[in-house]
Amino acid sequence: MTKKWWHDKVAYQIYPKSFYDSNGDGIGDIPGIISKLDYLKDLGVDILWLSPCFRSPMADQGYDISDYYDIDPRFGTIQDMEELIEKAKKRNMYILMDLVVNHCSDEHEWFQKACQDPDGKYGNFFYLRDKKEGELPTNWRSYFGGPVWEDLPGTDKQYLHVFHKKQPDLNWENPEVREEVYKNINWWLDKGLGGFRIDAIINIKKALPFHDYEPDREDGLCSISKMLEEARGIGEFLGEMRDRTFKKYDAFSVGEVFNEKKEEIPDFIGENGYFSSMFDFNETICGASDKGWYDCKPVTPDEYKKACFETQRKVGDVGFVSNIIENHDEPRGVSRYLPEDGCCDAGKKMLAGLNFMLRGLPFIYQGQELGMENCPFTSIEEVDDISTLDEYQVALNAGFTPQDALKLVSRYSRDNARTPMQWSQEENAGFTTGKPWLKVNPNYSIINAASQENDPDSVRSFYKKLIALRKNPQYRETIVYGSLEPVWEDRHNLMSYWRKGDKTLLVIGNYQKDTQSVTLPSECKNVLLNNYGDIAWEGLTVSLYGYQLLILEL
Ligand code: GLC
Ligand code: CA
Repeated sequence: MTKKWWHDKVAYQIYPKSFYDSNGDGIGDIPGIISKLDYLKDLGVDILWLSPCFRSPMADQGYDISDYYDIDPRFGTIQDMEELIEKAKKRNMYILMDLVVNHCSDEHEWFQKACQDPDGKYGNFFYLRDKKEGELPTNWRSYFGGPVWEDLPGTDKQYLHVFHKKQPDLNWENPEVREEVYKNINWWLDKGLGGFRIDAIINIKKALPFHDYEPDREDGLCSISKMLEEARGIGEFLGEMRDRTFKKYDAFSVGEVFNEKKEEIPDFIGENGYFSSMFDFNETICGASDKGWYDCKPVTPDEYKKACFETQRKVGDVGFVSNIIENHDEPRGVSRYLPEDGCCDAGKKMLAGLNFMLRGLPFIYQGQELGMENCPFTSIEEVDDISTLDEYQVALNAGFTPQDALKLVSRYSRDNARTPMQWSQEENAGFTTGKPWLKVNPNYSIINAASQENDPDSVRSFYKKLIALRKNPQYRETIVYGSLEPVWEDRHNLMSYWRKGDKTLLVIGNYQKDTQSVTLPSECKNVLLNNYGDIAWEGLTVSLYGYQLLILEL
């Protein structure tokens, strides 16, 4: 395998709106990120992915872009962005931006022009169909609820949006659209960006000609995934994009790819793959239900383990997946993947270690390094996320009371991850001197960066140790390039695996509150990491404490 500059890096996702507010308007911004670069450097991360901060009406928090060449004034200016890139570079850090090109905003100039002249050049930038009274072009349900078709203002046509109606899908079949996309990517890469995270990319190829599928809910619509399963030929678009952009710059790219098949993995992330890496979402779909969030099942430790190993086996040494515990679209991982009694410092560190030592690139989402938890939303008024609002409605329609519907959907709300970063015990968690745009999690007085800074036993200190271990020249080769082999796989509530390279490492997590023992096949040479003060050895047998994590060299 050809070595790449990003193989041994650790990435960190910033949700700009909620990271740090520098000017007291209650909204995080780019100068705020700049002022926290030393915090990030101290943590040890190298690659910073910023969720979108382009000009946007914010219907979907910036995932609806109205100008790909400008920074939204809420977040700062182009100059701020350039300064961020430069100051990160001085610290040997790389900036990734979010490439949102499955769709733009309905306030983008292209869409405005399409409304003015649907049969002209810009009409062909979108998927337009003639409007027929009482009939939709297809029966597909958008990700955020309701049909994917909306009237094109001022015309007798309708346009396709697989996400929100303010996010019209771009027609990738049109070479002019693709040219615009490549031009923009290169414009940013010329500014010294490290690369891009690539949003919702699996949606760019549609199954043509459009047709209906079997409805799967009482609304008579079907999940958009039905159409996507049938779509072929996305590789032509992705390969072209790689060659015209990322490849020329040796840039890093990580795709938001769902439902890939095993045989497609080499195409996506192999030696000359479309992307440098792609996220592993296998854990995030555990317990999912077609009916909606209200019907999702909690994830058990055994299911979590199974999901991780499934991906590891599927990918092998073909390439590098990007491993996450959470992101801006998911609830907090510690609230989701740990049993209730495990949502404590020991459990949080265990989950961190189990995820971090998997083969692939570790991505940390802001606040994860502090053990930030889901937010108790007490009223639907406190929720901003369009996806949660839709799922709340779905739960109400299924017959739940408003109170129960809120309780059920807030377990999965994207806003759990979007509450302001908890910097300190000061008002509003030290995030802003103004009124925060979204509720601050009331537990900030206990969970915050400042109080964990000088505590060697804090979750934050544990993350620093994990990152330092990955970078330790003695172990780096094994952790980055070594193989992964599950061990004691059938043991209930135990997740354990080998990492084998020039060293032999064993990662063991006791995924329960009760102790359990394992017997090592050979003597332990070194304890590289332990989330407890001691280890209860008896010869080669170790009795693991509740949620104990060990990283051993054998
Ligand atoms: C991706 C983003 C999500 C957004 C959607 C539409 O899934 O991560 O936040 O809502 O795409 O752009
Ligand atoms: Ca601000």
